[in-house]
Amino acid sequence: MNNFEFKNPTKIIFGKDTIKKINEEIPADAKVLLLYGGGSIKKNGIYNQVKEALANIDVIEFGGIPANPEYATLLEALEVIKTKNITYLLAVGGGSVIDGTKFLSAAAVYEGKTPWDILQKNIRTEKGMLFGTVLTLPATGSEMNSGAVITRKETKEKLAMGGPGLFPQFSILDPEVVKSIPQRQLANGLADAFTHVLEQYMTYSVDAKLQDRFAESILQTLIEIAPTILNDEFDYKAASNFMWSCTMALNGLIQKGVPTDWAIHAIGHELTALYGIDHARTLAIITESHYKHNFETKKDKLAQYGERVWNITEGNVDDKAQAAIKKTTAFFKSLGIDTKLSDYTSDYEGTAKEIAKRFTDRGWLALGEHQSLSPEKVEKIVEMAY
Ligand code: NZQ
Ligand code: ZN
Repeated sequence: MNNFEFKNPTKIIFGKDTIKKINEEIPADAKVLLLYGGGSIKKNGIYNQVKEALANIDVIEFGGIPANPEYATLLEALEVIKTKNITYLLAVGGGSVIDGTKFLSAAAVYEGKTPWDILQKNIRTEKGMLFGTVLTLPATGSEMNSGAVITRKETKEKLAMGGPGLFPQFSILDPEVVKSIPQRQLANGLADAFTHVLEQYMTYSVDAKLQDRFAESILQTLIEIAPTILNDEFDYKAASNFMWSCTMALNGLIQKGVPTDWAIHAIGHELTALYGIDHARTLAIITESHYKHNFETKKDKLAQYGERVWNITEGNVDDKAQAAIKKTTAFFKSLGIDTKLSDYTSDYEGTAKEIAKRFTDRGWLALGEHQSLSPEKVEKIVEMAY
């Protein structure tokens, strides 16, 4: 096992009827900016619950943060923070609203002139404006980590940021919110969380038995509950397991002491930036070709995953690893998610070259757990995903 340090300061408040506990977490004298997305919270009753809980607190609202949170919109929110002397942020939404709020937490205290530098120059935030979240969509794990991904339409960029100052102070996880989530977003959530685990597991063994089994148990749980989650009828037990699995998939725990990859995400973010494809779907597009292209370095772990998660018992390591890749693609398809770029756009020629060029320009010359994934290899992987 590799050396590691682990600190996750986010307080999780999990369960039915927990939204009302917000007011116990926010300082009574705070001036709060309540941030939300395109309005789903007004249709499903979450907004009313939040407003009731905040009845005795000074609150201003900012709605309209789009999926793949947009820099230009966030700058408008930043203006509100500055002109209205906001002291505390509350995100009510999925990964996009929470990530947008993290950007604002960082930008509110940033002393430079151009907040985009936080992303472009990868400036880590040691201490941001305090914020909490009410999660409405299990998927990203953003509710219990310190990372965010922000989109800039103007330049077709999607870049990551983070730092120890960007953990939410608290996150409310009420599985009842799953009731109103559309099928497409439920499938996205399952696929995103599944891939988060894969990125932190499908590398090489350092004999970290517990981390491996944490990872495998999250994958098994997601596979087991997926049909119930996608079923029209809401099931609280499955929703609870779904929500907690998504949080655990990316709150830092399973990646401690082990090598991680994250190339699927790095490439996937470019597909969202270029074509607007949902984040989770970009991952489903890249996973198979990434694992095929890097088969030799990943096959031992692929075979272990095949055996332990998919109960593959036949054949040697190569056979099991190949079968495990097929099972993974079949899992994405069982969620109703297409796994080729050409399923999403007919305009895909040249995409591989463009992404390889972007990586070269940014100096991303050696991704993956062995720091051996060059832009040339990235180009090949994207081509294989056409
Ligand atoms: O905008 P509203 O009206 O709220 O509607 C949203 C949005 O249209 C809707 N929705 C959310 N909760 C709902 C609901 N509809 C009905 N009922 C509810 N309870 O779902 C749509 C998608 O929401 P979004 O927040 O965009 O989805 P998700 O949580 O998948 O977040 C995706 C973003 O997170 C980033 C992605 O790149 C993408 O920008 N990620 C963030 C990560 C992190 N911070 O750790 C890691 C991930 O790998 C990912 O990159
Ligand atoms: Zn993701």
